[in-house]
Amino acid sequence: MKIVTTIKEMQTFSKQMLRSGKAIGFVPTMGYLHEGHMSLVEEAVKQNDCVIMSIFVNPLQFGPDEDFDRYPRDLKRDEELAKQAGVDVLFYPDVKDMYPKERTTRLTVQERVDTLCGDSRPGHFDGVATVVMKLLQIVLPDRAYFGMKDAQQVAVIKGLVEDYNVPVEVVPCPIIREEDGLAKSSRNVYLTPTERKEAIQLSRSLDVATKAIELGETDPVIIKDLIFSLLKQTSGKIDYVEVLSYPDLGNIEVMKGKIIIAVAVQFSAARLIDNKVTTSQEIAIGV
Ligand code: PAJ
Repeated sequence: MKIVTTIKEMQTFSKQMLRSGKAIGFVPTMGYLHEGHMSLVEEAVKQNDCVIMSIFVNPLQFGPDEDFDRYPRDLKRDEELAKQAGVDVLFYPDVKDMYPKERTTRLTVQERVDTLCGDSRPGHFDGVATVVMKLLQIVLPDRAYFGMKDAQQVAVIKGLVEDYNVPVEVVPCPIIREEDGLAKSSRNVYLTPTERKEAIQLSRSLDVATKAIELGETDPVIIKDLIFSLLKQTSGKIDYVEVLSYPDLGNIEVMKGKIIIAVAVQFSAARLIDNKVTTSQEIAIGV
């Protein structure tokens, strides 16, 4: 596995790959890798000639009171995992190389961000869009892989790529979970043992909500109440519980087409998110 630390070297490598007709699959991450990240690599290995993974903890997507400084980092372990999974190039740029000077332009995400994490983390998706746009221009991939764990991120990036005609296929990949259902996340290490046990309520509440919809519940308010009642049993603070259209993330009065059920809970040192995207039959509320 090749390790690249400068933008120049990365771009030169990718241009060579493209010239020789090789398809590049790209997995952007912030490191501290787990099976969720590795599942994206697995998919990328299947579909491309060359897999590039980036590890970059992007300061732009963290708010002033968020966990940028204490975001978990372990490059040696990540290198080993990436190599084993079949990553060909690990791109590990420096903050100074990525953001060398005051930018002359600014990317602002206008749609799909006034709800869910966009609402509770102002500016977060501007930071994500900026770094992803930069990484796509540096790595020049044919396909880029993103986890549905961050379903709003997938919706925002799809919009970005469409808006700016970026020649990349965005490939969404399913959420990888612990045995008890908790979605794998680099931040799970910050849960206390008690919180770790309570955290299964996130996925459990989504399962219960899905069951209720399958059994004919048609009212998003009732679905949300059901989820609230389960999340309230944890010591965490509920950040949001939403039932929205997907990928537009609009409010729904009629359960129709693709919908997302999404939750976020703030525990003492970790904010956890989870969601489920399902396709619902056209069902009029209250009928
Ligand atoms: P990070 O949180 O490191 O996640 C990198 C990728 O792994 C994202 O696409 C995320 O959705 C995916 N992922 C994380 N946990 C997952 C799980 N349990 N199952 C499936 N996929 C999972 O997301 C980011 O980094 C950053 O915002 C980034 C896109 C790299 C831009 O900085």
